Amino acid sequence: MTSLPSGWTLRLLGTLVLMLLPGGALSYCVDPPDIPNAVRKTRVGTLIPAGKVIKYGCHPGYKLIAGLRQGRITCLENSTWSSAPNFCQKVRCPAPDVNKGTQTPMPRPGEETYAFGDRVTIKCDFGYDIKGSIIGNAQISCKHDGTWDPAVPVCEPVLVCAQPPNISHGQHSDWGKRVFFVGSSVTYKCDRGFSLVGNASIQCIAGDEVTPTWSEPTPQCEETQCPVPHIQHGSLKSPLPHNYTHRTSVTFQCDPGYILRGAEKIQCQADGKWYPQLPVCDLGALIGFNAKLMASGIRSYPFVAQT
Ligand SMILES: *[C@@H]1O[C@H](CO)[C@@H](O)[C@H](O)[C@H]1NC(C)=O
Ligand SMILES: *[C@@H]1O[C@H](CO)[C@@H](O)[C@H](O)[C@H]1NC(C)=O
Ligand SMILES: *[C@@H]1O[C@H](CO)[C@@H](O)[C@H](O)[C@H]1NC(C)=O
Ligand SMILES: *[C@@H]1O[C@H](CO)[C@@H](O)[C@H](O)[C@H]1NC(C)=O
Repeated sequence: MTSLPSGWTLRLLGTLVLMLLPGGALSYCVDPPDIPNAVRKTRVGTLIPAGKVIKYGCHPGYKLIAGLRQGRITCLENSTWSSAPNFCQKVRCPAPDVNKGTQTPMPRPGEETYAFGDRVTIKCDFGYDIKGSIIGNAQISCKHDGTWDPAVPVCEPVLVCAQPPNISHGQHSDWGKRVFFVGSSVTYKCDRGFSLVGNASIQCIAGDEVTPTWSEPTPQCEETQCPVPHIQHGSLKSPLPHNYTHRTSVTFQCDPGYILRGAEKIQCQADGKWYPQLPVCDLGALIGFNAKLMASGIRSYPFVAQT
């Protein structure tokens, strides 16, 4: 007896009451079933008379399945409940309409919409950003009322410049950077042995406000030149180069009678300076005598006739 579940006990009791009732036309149901994601709306006692309708509503985020006007079950004459389908299904949100962007994840296979509680990440295409933000992606959630929270973002074009122009023998500071917003600038540097000509920096400017562009002109890197090597009482021995760029070597010779002091051969360095420094041609052993003449007020004159 005690092994019988209480539902059965009550059902037996209901039948008993039915039998005992004068005119005994009534039957009773007990324990209205729990319907998934639904909440019972009708308050009932323990014994529910046949014909009684119990109404159900859906939990937040759920709604009655399409075509059903009301969730309800009825106590039947034979003390059972009318069949109870799952009246409540998850609320669904329409797939977000993202122009110039993508959504992840996509709706589940075979579905076109998202279910209540789903989270979707919207990522704007390159060159586009979430409107009113400089962030290219946003997460939205499907709300209990079938709308997205926050609202589906709009991807709008960002004011960005293309990659800064490449220049020969040099590069800009923001190598590897992907997005250059209006107002940003890049600074160029030249390779060793090259010197920057022009303004080192260019700016990304709105221009015609449709396609931002880089300010002009782009600097150039030109071979670094050393100054023309001039020495007094001497000349270049080596064939005269076209110009004096990095690594150009020159060799000096002194005029007859003069002696070279310092390096005979010097080279133009990457920084535009000669190394070793320019030599000097002087009168060598006679210098002391010359200095004595100068001290005595007699003007210096070359001791060796020029050819
Ligand atoms: C009770 O009645 C309904 C409808 O008349 C029927 O479908 C169901 O099978 C019956 N249940 C039992 C337990 O007799
Ligand atoms: C500059 O050169 C790099 C590497 O060679 C290349 O990836 C990039 O697209 C070039 N940029 C432009 C503006 O041509
Ligand atoms: C270089 O650019 C800056 C910023 O646009 C400007 O202020 C400056 O006058 C420019 N310098 C030269 C030498 O053009
Ligand atoms: C220097 O001369 C070389 C060859 O003579 C030439 O290729 C180069 O362009 C010259 N450089 C400059 C800066 O004039």
